[in-house]
Amino acid sequence: MSEQLTIDNVREQMVGVDARVPLLDGSLRTCINFDNASTTPVLKPVLDKVNEFMDWYASVGRGAGFKSNLCTEVLEEVRGFIYEFVDASPEHYTIIFGKNTTEAINKLAHRFPFSPGDIALSSKMEHHSNDLPWRAVAEVQYIGVDERGALDLDHLAHLLKKNSGKVRLVSVTGASNVTGFINPIYEIAEMVHSVGAKLCVDAAQLVLHRKVTMGNVKDVRHIDYLAFCGHKMYAPFGVGVLVGLKESFLRGSPDSVGGGTVDLVTPDRVLWANLPAKEEAGTPNVVGAVALAKAILCLQEIGLDKVAYHEARLTSYLLERLVNIDRITVYGDDDPDRSITRLGVVPIEIEGVPHQLVSAILGMEGGIAVRNGLFCAHPYALHLLKASAVEVNTLASALKKGIRSQLPGLTRISFGMYNIKSEIDVLVDLLERICQGRYQGQYVQDPFTGCFVAERFPLKPQEYFALR
Ligand SMILES: Cc1ncc(COP(=O)(O)O)c(C=O)c1O
Repeated sequence: MSEQLTIDNVREQMVGVDARVPLLDGSLRTCINFDNASTTPVLKPVLDKVNEFMDWYASVGRGAGFKSNLCTEVLEEVRGFIYEFVDASPEHYTIIFGKNTTEAINKLAHRFPFSPGDIALSSKMEHHSNDLPWRAVAEVQYIGVDERGALDLDHLAHLLKKNSGKVRLVSVTGASNVTGFINPIYEIAEMVHSVGAKLCVDAAQLVLHRKVTMGNVKDVRHIDYLAFCGHKMYAPFGVGVLVGLKESFLRGSPDSVGGGTVDLVTPDRVLWANLPAKEEAGTPNVVGAVALAKAILCLQEIGLDKVAYHEARLTSYLLERLVNIDRITVYGDDDPDRSITRLGVVPIEIEGVPHQLVSAILGMEGGIAVRNGLFCAHPYALHLLKASAVEVNTLASALKKGIRSQLPGLTRISFGMYNIKSEIDVLVDLLERICQGRYQGQYVQDPFTGCFVAERFPLKPQEYFALR
């Protein structure tokens, strides 16, 4: 029997955390990944389960062979896991697999029964994937955020009242991919349901750090729709999930049509299949589903409360160390004592050093992966940076000419459950050196990408990974 997975031994169960990456001085260093909000590494048990499954891999829902039947059964078993994972009842909710969170939200946007004049509320803290899909199908109004970037619930109440009877759907993130703020989704649900609207939660950042409950549909605090993906929860095999009220998908045609979505097709007639097949056009990603199920089992074995506590301790430690560095500004909430109330996602700025340069130095001189820029949440990040309308216009003109060197932005440090304190020490030491101008390389910015590259950086990917 394998050893119980715990928050203390999970690092040993992560693939690639000991990989050695090249530095500017020609040495190799064990990589440090602080870019978990973009995508997490894979858990070994997930990879092992996928490998084990490959012996049985075959067509899903189409063939009559033993393996096909097994794959079809397994896909449905995973659906069962997800019902349990988010406490949703199969009587009221359907679970639709797709390729990522973005696709899941787009599907809901196209299938939600909006009528002309209906309003959808999104917020100013959203990832573009929970903003742009709504613009395509409804009039969208945005719930504001305060100066630090926390969602303004009074403004939500105001928008619901002002647009009485017209707001059909509110879609907010469960947690911000920029500041790590966690939204009070059950309280929001109560507000949204009190005016007869529905609530969608973009849980891409939340489900791997906190327990999420769809709840009883009769309870005003239930969630109507939830979107998330495998690649941010240690299962990067291309699967996304939409959990949603069945009633929304019964009427009309699916947004994406083709094989698998029908019971009968004649030249002039289409009989749609039952849910969820109707909404899953093409061959389902059963491998991704298996990976996701195993990741869920691993997270449950460790305990999401333990994950949250460990990541909060890392966040407190990082914030405590950053506060002593004069030239660093932390955006969002910088109070170490409130770390348990938010995610370990910390955006920073170093006075006088472009964000593109900060992340280049961290990567090339520290082997540390972070993300920089506006994090696919331009309205939010520009709000945090207090960019004026004039600055945004100047930026747009430069971008139209293909020039990205002036792109404003921040540097984001984001933790996974396997990160450790000593990695933060390596990061903060290097950040201190950057502040003091004591980094080694001569960096040159490419005006068209905005990226900085050190002269003579020995980046030869083929030496590390070759396709043949
Ligand atoms: C809050 C949030 N929503 C949506 C997405 C998009 O997720 P996906 O890449 O699974 O489409 C991301 C990705 O970073 C995110 O952070």
